[in-house]
Amino acid sequence: MNTSKQVNIMIGLLFLSVLFFGGLVLYEAPRQTEAREEHEDLLAERGATLFVNNCRNCHGMVGEGHIGPPLNIPGFRILEEGNAEGAPATPLGEVDSLTRFLTDTIACGRTGTFMPVWSQDHGGPLSEIQVDYLVAMITQGRWDLVEELGIEHDAATETTDAVLAEDILVQDASSLAATEGNCGQYSEELAAEFRGRDHFEEPGADGGATPEPTETSTPGGGGAPVEGGVAVSLTEFAVEVSPASTAAGEVAFNVANDGAVAHNFRAVRTDLAPDALPVAGGAVDESALEVVAETEDLQGGGSTGATGDLAAGSYVLFCNVSGHYTLGMFTGFTVE
Ligand code: HEC
Repeated sequence: MNTSKQVNIMIGLLFLSVLFFGGLVLYEAPRQTEAREEHEDLLAERGATLFVNNCRNCHGMVGEGHIGPPLNIPGFRILEEGNAEGAPATPLGEVDSLTRFLTDTIACGRTGTFMPVWSQDHGGPLSEIQVDYLVAMITQGRWDLVEELGIEHDAATETTDAVLAEDILVQDASSLAATEGNCGQYSEELAAEFRGRDHFEEPGADGGATPEPTETSTPGGGGAPVEGGVAVSLTEFAVEVSPASTAAGEVAFNVANDGAVAHNFRAVRTDLAPDALPVAGGAVDESALEVVAETEDLQGGGSTGATGDLAAGSYVLFCNVSGHYTLGMFTGFTVE
């Protein structure tokens, strides 16, 4: 064999090895993606099972919200590079802060609300890793698994369709206890910021994560209770008013939170029936209504005054903490 033949063979071998290793790389990349996806599916499935057994009664059959706020919202999603929605990947900083927000809330519950403590570290029933499964399911948005496993679970426990929702969803909040002192807390503002994340938007539309404050003016803001005012009592989940009508002019509402969890008070002038106000994202859409008096959030046992200049007409009084209106916290009110 002469030298040039040897060289040719060497080149040939080199070429073959390049083909071989190149092929290996091309084969390995999707294989890793596949393995990662399988792993994530497994976490989400475990999370979905935990959700079916522990969370549906308050957060709804597929996380749509009930006594607790909706959890199946875009704001709680973490998106990876090349996601099916074709949206930009969630930046790492946001991944961290959202994960911490969800983990802490589930592990610690929320003081002064019905959200229980779940982590064993704080006296709850779930291990740290089980809390991680729940967070994985929520951030991956795998509510399809919750629905699927929920149907299986309800079939196995022989719950008929007719009574299903009634049986599982909490109907009577008086059986619940408000969560007391616990670990990490998030303010309503911060929670609202996480809920309002919208990363499905075109990038740069408004820079992403900062939600607009919803309220600009505060008609008839809080103050001390007024003697001889209209008494409003807020409980889980009803609004009572006495007397149910008054004369036109400046009206003072004495608002008392006689319940266990935080509530607030809104009075709107409208011809709509009390149970027919427009609802968006779990709360009454105040931007579509004329709010004539309102209060800040009141903790259980708190009270305050709210005044408004009320013309003759029909009014609806309600609580607009997320979910509370749809649970029945409204009543009609007449100004003559
Ligand atoms: C007894 C009713 C109840 C149960 C059961 C319950 N939650 Fe909650 N949860 C709530 C309430 C009420 C809130 C809202 C607290 C507040 O007003 O800040 C909440 C808030 C949350 C939040 C924060 C959402 C936000 O928008 O601020 C997460 C996450 C959450 N719950 C997850 C879970 C998970 C997961 C489970 C099951 C392991 C669960 N919850 C079980 C009542 C409940």
